[in-house]
Amino acid sequence: MGVILREFSFKLNGQPVSVKAPPAYTLLETLRYVIRLTGTKDGCSSGDCGACTVLLDGRAVHSCLTLISHVQGREVVTVEGVDPKIVKAYASEGAVQCGYCIPGLVVATAALLREHPKPSTEEVREMLKGNLCRCTGYVKIVKAVEAAAGV
Ligand code: FES
Ligand code: FES
Repeated sequence: MGVILREFSFKLNGQPVSVKAPPAYTLLETLRYVIRLTGTKDGCSSGDCGACTVLLDGRAVHSCLTLISHVQGREVVTVEGVDPKIVKAYASEGAVQCGYCIPGLVVATAALLREHPKPSTEEVREMLKGNLCRCTGYVKIVKAVEAAAGV
């Protein structure tokens, strides 16, 4: 018996998309294996690392825990669709080592700056609690977020 596919329509990085995917797929699986948009990373598949963070209607969510059916008619922004100045800030502050955590951090930064355009260091640190980085020690990541915010 073949896999049952359903059609799902939503906005992705500003463009309307319609995809056929198994209804049990997560948004992360749909992005990576159906749409082939691979900037969003799979670190743990269980909501623990933040590597898969995307914006859903402007709020940061774990795409590994979000079923594709939950996205129907909504708006998704991935690392490919966030303000490039955030990506540039991570690069220019030297905040990237292996890079695996960075797409999730960039998206989490976009969510933070939407709510707090000029975040305090405490607010930046609070945001980072949801995104694990095993390489950097976080100091340069905090600087990158502050550079992106212009503070
Ligand atoms: S892959 Fe989703 S939280 Fe780790
Ligand atoms: S740069 Fe390697 S996990 Fe963050």
